[in-house]
Amino acid sequence: MNGDLFIKNASQIITVSGVAAKRGKEMGDIGVIEGGAVLVQNGKITAVGKSPELEARVDGATETIDAAGRIVLPGFVDSHTHLVFAGFRADEFLLRTQGASYMDIMKRGGGIQRTVNDTRNASKESLERSALNWLDHMLEFGVTTVEAKSGYGLDRDTEIKQLEVMQSIDRRHPVDVAATFLGAHAVPPDYKGRTAAYLEFLRQSVMPEIREKGLAEFCDIFCEKGVFSIEQSRIFLESARKMGFYLKIHADEIFPLGGAELAASLGALSADHLLMASDQGISNLARKGVIATLLPGTAFCLKEPYARARHMIDRGCAVALATDFNPGSCATFSIPFIMAVAVMQMGMTIEEAITAFTLNGAAALMRSHLIGSIEPGKWGDMVVIDYPSYGFIPYHAGMNPVQLTIKKGNIVWRREKGTCYPVSP
Ligand code: NIG
Ligand code: FE
Repeated sequence: MNGDLFIKNASQIITVSGVAAKRGKEMGDIGVIEGGAVLVQNGKITAVGKSPELEARVDGATETIDAAGRIVLPGFVDSHTHLVFAGFRADEFLLRTQGASYMDIMKRGGGIQRTVNDTRNASKESLERSALNWLDHMLEFGVTTVEAKSGYGLDRDTEIKQLEVMQSIDRRHPVDVAATFLGAHAVPPDYKGRTAAYLEFLRQSVMPEIREKGLAEFCDIFCEKGVFSIEQSRIFLESARKMGFYLKIHADEIFPLGGAELAASLGALSADHLLMASDQGISNLARKGVIATLLPGTAFCLKEPYARARHMIDRGCAVALATDFNPGSCATFSIPFIMAVAVMQMGMTIEEAITAFTLNGAAALMRSHLIGSIEPGKWGDMVVIDYPSYGFIPYHAGMNPVQLTIKKGNIVWRREKGTCYPVSP
C-alpha cells in the first residue's frame, strides 16, 4: 500500500533533483532547502518547498512528521551488492591482513568458489531468510533500493535459485531489489581450462530462461586477468544485450586490463570498481556517459589503492557509490562508512558522495526517473537523519544517524531509542 505523509520543519531537505545521472561538476549540486517540507500522496511526492507554504496546503488528517533539527535525503540506492549467499569467509579476510592476496586465495580454491559451494548446498529458504535479514539491516542505514547479483551458483539450478530468491525478497520486503545475472563471476571447476565453453553454456542454456522468466534486468561479468578476458567479456556482453539485458562490468578491479575502455566501447550502463582504470578508460567512460560505480569498501578491505574518484569527476564522469556487500572482498553495507571513505580517501566532496548514493545509484539501475531525488513525481523514498546539516555525515564517520526510513510514503523503519546525536530542541 502506498502512503500519504507530510514531513515538515526539516533543517535541510536535500533534494538532489534530476531525472538522469549527474556528471562532473553537476554532482556537487544537491539542492538544499532550509526549513523544508515534503508532501507524499499515494506513495508519490507531490510537493517540496519551504515548510510554512506547504503546511497551508495539507489537511490535518495526513500523517505528519516534525523533522525539526533533522535532515531529509532521498533514500539511499545501493547499486552493487552480492547479498544472496551462504557462508562466511572471515578466515580469508584475516589471511589478507597477513599479506595473502585476493587472487591467490581464489586460485587456491577459496574465494568465490568457496561461497559457490556453500550457496549450492543451501536451501532456497535459508538463502531467503539470510537475505531478508540483510535487507532489514540495510533499511536501518536508510537504503530503499538495492541491487543484488547472482554468481554464487555457476550452474543453471543455483543461479536460478539465487535469482528466484531476489524476486521473492523483492516482493516480501519494503526494500526494492533489482536483480543482476552474474553467472560469469568465475569459471567453475568442471569447465576448468574451457572458459569460452562455460560462457557459451551460460548464453545458450541459462540466460534465455532468465529473460523469459523476467528474473534479471542486468547482466554483469567479472572481467579480470585470470578470470574472463576483454575479448571474452565483449562477446558475452554483446549477446547479453541482444537478449535484452542492460550491461554492467566488474572492470579493472585488480589488474589494469582495459575494462573501462571495454565498458565505454560497449556503451554499458555502468563500469564497476575501476580501481586500476587508465586515464584513457576514464575519459572514454565520461564521453560515453557510462556510470562509474565505485566501491570504496572493497579497496579498503582488500588493502588496494582507491579508485580515482576525483579525477573521474573532474573529467566529467557520473560517479555512483555502492557497498559491494559480499562475503569475500567487502562484508559491510554501512552507508556512512562508505561515504566517509569516499570523502576522506578519494577526494569526493560530501555533496558528490550524496549524489553518488542517491540519484546516480538510481541511474545505474535505470530508475532515475522514479527514485533518487526528492521532487514531485518521484516515489516518496526518503531517509530522515538525526543531524542538523548534511556536513555531519562524514564528520561522524561510520556512525549510523538514521532516524526514519520511508518507502513510498510509508515509514518502514523507525529508530526507537534515538541516535547518539543530541537533537537540538
Ligand atoms: O565485487 N570481484 C568479484 N566479485 C566480488 C567479490 C565476490 C567474492 O569475493 O565473493 C567483488 O569484489
Ligand atoms: Fe562486486
